[in-house]
Amino acid sequence: MQTSTRNELLLKRSLSAVWHPCTQMKQHETLPLIPVARAKGCWLYDFDGHRYLDAVSSWWVNLFGHGNPRINAALTDQLAQLEHVILAGFTHEPVVALSERLSQLTGGRLGHCFYASDGAAATEIALKMSFHYWRNSGRPEKTQFVSLAGSYHGETLGALAVTDVALFRDTYAPLLRTSARVPSPDWRLAEQGESARGFAIRCADALEQYLQQHHASTAALIVEPLVQGAVGMAMYDAEYLRRARALCDRYSVHLIADEIMVGFGRTGTMFAHEQAGITPDFLCLSKGITGGYLPLSVVLTTDTVYQAFYNDDAARGFLHSHSYTGNALACRAALATLDIFAQDGVIEANRARSAHLSEAASALASHPRVKNFRNTGMIWAFEVAAEDAGFPRRFYQQALARELLLRPIGNTIYFMPPYVISRDEAELLVNRTLGIIDAI
Ligand SMILES: Cc1ncc(COP(=O)(O)O)c(C=O)c1O
Repeated sequence: MQTSTRNELLLKRSLSAVWHPCTQMKQHETLPLIPVARAKGCWLYDFDGHRYLDAVSSWWVNLFGHGNPRINAALTDQLAQLEHVILAGFTHEPVVALSERLSQLTGGRLGHCFYASDGAAATEIALKMSFHYWRNSGRPEKTQFVSLAGSYHGETLGALAVTDVALFRDTYAPLLRTSARVPSPDWRLAEQGESARGFAIRCADALEQYLQQHHASTAALIVEPLVQGAVGMAMYDAEYLRRARALCDRYSVHLIADEIMVGFGRTGTMFAHEQAGITPDFLCLSKGITGGYLPLSVVLTTDTVYQAFYNDDAARGFLHSHSYTGNALACRAALATLDIFAQDGVIEANRARSAHLSEAASALASHPRVKNFRNTGMIWAFEVAAEDAGFPRRFYQQALARELLLRPIGNTIYFMPPYVISRDEAELLVNRTLGIIDAI
């Protein structure tokens, strides 16, 4: 069969059988789906050999490129031993080794790992565990959660209740339990002349006012440390996290760090909260944990939380489960991912990579239609001045025409490439993006 026919056939079958995520399916009457036949490094290829630079790391999951030989080898080896086993009453080497290594990465402060598969499930677990901790500790009235304006923590009902992105939330509002919002320290919202740090302090003051009033009923504050992704890569000063940690301690409220997007080196440190020198009570991880290979999420927590559940009474235990909890293949992919971090000095190497891309992007940063050019670690974002509502879609299509996979969020364009992006690829990404801005 000719390759272009294979492309077309796959698109047709996909549109009739697959309900694609986060998509108004009718738009595909005019916006073609992209078939992917194979992928290698930063590139996705269709059956005709057309290629697309995966500048969003396939929804922020891929770290070390598609078809990574080391992760492939680890998975092949694991397949020959054990693919999956129930984790209630049974255990296995990959899940134990992964838990030990994740705990070590937090300096042993978060020594207990509870697994699921998707990010949203990790959010649900952290929220339930926090509430249940307080209940087990004689504080059953702590039933409320507070999150930042513009926050995103996933699409399941509990996670959506603490999410603040209208497009995803509003339709389902009648199904969601109420939860509170406090101002986001997103520095784009600072007053003219106000520093990012100054604004972070002002927002922390607002959090303090909220907690002063509501701490008795509040179980936890949940935050995306340093970068709020889905609202448009809002970046903020680490001072906010330092102050939030101190306030949570003062008012007996848990701090949940949702590092599902920002974990595993995205912000320049292994975990984003490290940049504030704090430890959260719950750390939610997913996405990059398996290098972008397999669904896996985990909530890490403290001895204090763990001990509050440890009891003869079954109902005081955390009786939450998912069938694929601690899947052996996914854990093994995660171990291979951590090996790459350790063996290749990835955090250090990314500093040079990040500096090079930022330098290459100087013409973007100073472009007259570009506003708020910003960078944290391996994330870059900026707004493009455009009046019409069709801008994101036109930008997306123009990007595809130039071999780039970019998914604008409104007028925000962001780059979140795999860490294996080469200097040439980074320059291609920047130069072609400039070309799109000039063309539309
Ligand atoms: C910060 C954050 N939390 C939670 C999630 C939800 O993760 P998942 O899509 O795996 O359910 C996401 C996904 O983008 C995220 O960015």
